[in-house]
Amino acid sequence: MRQDLPQRVRITEVGPRDGLQNEKQPVPAEVKLELCERLIDAGVDQLEATSFVSPKWVPQMADAPRVMAGIERREGLHLSVLTPNMKGFEGALAAGAHEVVIFGAASEAFSQRNINCSIAESIERFRPVAEAAQANGIRVRAAVSVAFGCPYQGEVPVADVVDITERFRDLGCDEIGIADTIGVGTAAHVKTVFEAASKVYPLAQLSGHFHDTYGQGVSNTLAALEVGVSRFDTSIAGLGGCPFAKGATGNVATEDVVYLLHGMGIETGLDLEKLVLTGQWISEFLGRKSNSRAGNAIAVKLRDSQTQASA
Ligand code: HMG
Ligand code: MG
Repeated sequence: MRQDLPQRVRITEVGPRDGLQNEKQPVPAEVKLELCERLIDAGVDQLEATSFVSPKWVPQMADAPRVMAGIERREGLHLSVLTPNMKGFEGALAAGAHEVVIFGAASEAFSQRNINCSIAESIERFRPVAEAAQANGIRVRAAVSVAFGCPYQGEVPVADVVDITERFRDLGCDEIGIADTIGVGTAAHVKTVFEAASKVYPLAQLSGHFHDTYGQGVSNTLAALEVGVSRFDTSIAGLGGCPFAKGATGNVATEDVVYLLHGMGIETGLDLEKLVLTGQWISEFLGRKSNSRAGNAIAVKLRDSQTQASA
């Protein structure tokens, strides 16, 4: 194991939220709950379960209260939900969320498309959310969307990522996730952005959120690890994408990142085999092949060894 890398990485599983929010076909709450249960059984203890957003904007997340009510609470399990405003926060509080995620953008164009306001207005909407969360002992995580490129603006200056990181820091956020919403970043860019962000906010509280549109998710994870980042959001089977980022695919697959980390001797507390079976199960439900390369390869091995055992 490389001594210069974190020995343990914390994965936040975002499949039930980022993964399913973009699904066109209805996914019943019972299926979402089974997905959550399977993930928890695989060792997931940081689970982004759903979003308290406008159902007109994101219909797939309209069942947020039902999903939150259905997840069996256990010691050590932390449930996160997205909350763009106070209405969302009230839903999150009533549902017993442990963490709320406020989500802003490093480009004005994406802010308008995703949350219908400017960056400055979004910060003013988030301020009471952060204060109310802090008053209620709820963790606050922020997400900086389009930190590596924007589908509407194109290039995003590193200084703009640093600027919104500072604004989130000033709201007292417990964690700030730097997100590659459309998956265009490459390793050197990732290093530059995380190094710059870590000059204004503690590295230990920064997290990486990489979509895998251009197949860079695993290498970008490694690049961030090499800067010292030890928290990552990943999505089972690589599900997902943002409905307001056309053409963007899901997050880097949980199975692929866990395969990388375990292969490097880095602990996650997750059971890769159970994750693989969960990724295959949800992909089958959705009627398509999993986006996880490691997941598909391990699934073949598991099927082969089962066939041999029963022969
Ligand atoms: P708006 O239309 O400007 O809001 O939307 P509004 O305050 O004018 O309200 C309009 C209606 O929405 C009203 O209902 C409100 O009550 C309702 P009406 O009176 O018309 O019946 N409403 C809500 N309902 C439920 N929950 C709420 C809520 N707020 C208002 N919280 C708003 C502004 C922010 C609400 C809207 O734009 C929205 O919900 N956007 C969410 C977009 C979203 O979820 N995007 C995907 C998640 S972000 C993401 O994927 C990126 C991330 O993964 C990181 C990355 O990869 O970049 C995190
Ligand atoms: Mg995302």
